[in-house]
Amino acid sequence: MSETLLEVDSLDVRYGAIHALRGVSFEVKAGEIVTLIGSNGAGKSTLLRAISGLVRPSSGRILLRGADVTRFAPEAIVALGCSHVPEGRRIFANLTVLENLQMGAWAKRGREAQGLERAFALFPRLRERLTQAGGTLSGGEQQMLAIGRALMAEPAVLLLDEPSLGLAPLLVRQIFSIVREINAQGTTVVLVEQNAHQALGIASRAYVLETGALAISGLASDLARDPRVRRAYLGDESAE
Ligand SMILES: Nc1ncnc2c1ncn2[C@@H]1O[C@H](COP(=O)(O)OP(=O)(O)OP(=O)(O)O)[C@@H](O)[C@H]1O
Ligand SMILES: [Mg+2]
Repeated sequence: MSETLLEVDSLDVRYGAIHALRGVSFEVKAGEIVTLIGSNGAGKSTLLRAISGLVRPSSGRILLRGADVTRFAPEAIVALGCSHVPEGRRIFANLTVLENLQMGAWAKRGREAQGLERAFALFPRLRERLTQAGGTLSGGEQQMLAIGRALMAEPAVLLLDEPSLGLAPLLVRQIFSIVREINAQGTTVVLVEQNAHQALGIASRAYVLETGALAISGLASDLARDPRVRRAYLGDESAE
C-alpha cells in the first residue's frame, strides 16, 4: 500500500454567507494523479486554496504526510512538500523567467541548479527565454513557467488548478503529457480540470464536486464510463 500523502477530512469553507465547501473528504496516495472535476463555482479552486493555506476552513482537517497542517501558513505548507500552481498562473510579470524560477526555489536553497535543470528538461522553451520578462510570455509559456516555478520547491504533491485553461488544443495535449511526465518522475499530482475527458485519461482516481460537496468518486476509468459523468462533464447527450 502506498503512503497517504494528503488527507482532507470533512472540510468546510465559507466566504461570508457563501458556503463554498461542505464536508469534503478526500485522499491522495503517493504516486497518484488524482483529478477533481466540477462545474464553474463547484469549489475546486477553494479546495486547492484551503490545502495550500490560502483560505482558512471553518471546520475539518487537512493532513499532509500525516501532519495536521489545517492552520499552517502557505509557506510552511510549501516547505512540507505541497506546491500550488494557481488558476490564472500568477507569475511575476515584471521578473524575468529566471527570476520567477528562482522565486520558487526559496524552500530549497542549495538545490536551485538541479531545479533549473528539471524545469528546462520539461520545458526547453524556458531555457531559451531566461532573460525575458514573465509578463511578455505567451499564455502557454506562462503556464510552463508557473509549473516550473512550483517544481523548484521539489514538492511531493503538486496542486494544478486548470493548467490547460485558455490554451490551444495542441498545447493542451502538451500540458497533459507534461503532467504525466512530472508524475512519472515521482511527483504526486492533484489536477483540477474543465477538460474532464483528458483529465480522466491520465488520472488514476477522480472526485466530482457539485456545489461544494463531493458527488461522485472512484477510479478515473470507471468515472469516464459513468452516465452521470458522461452527461454532465463529458458532453455526452446520449448517456442515460
Ligand atoms: N474570495 C471569495 N469571496 C467570496 N466568494 C468566493 C470567493 N472565492 C470563491 N467564492 C465563491 O465560492 C464558490 C466556489 O468558487 P471556486 O472558485 O472554488 O469554484 P471553482 O470550482 O474553482 O470554479 P471555476 O471552475 O469557475 O474555477 C463560488 O460560488 C464562488 O463565487
Ligand atoms: Mg477554479
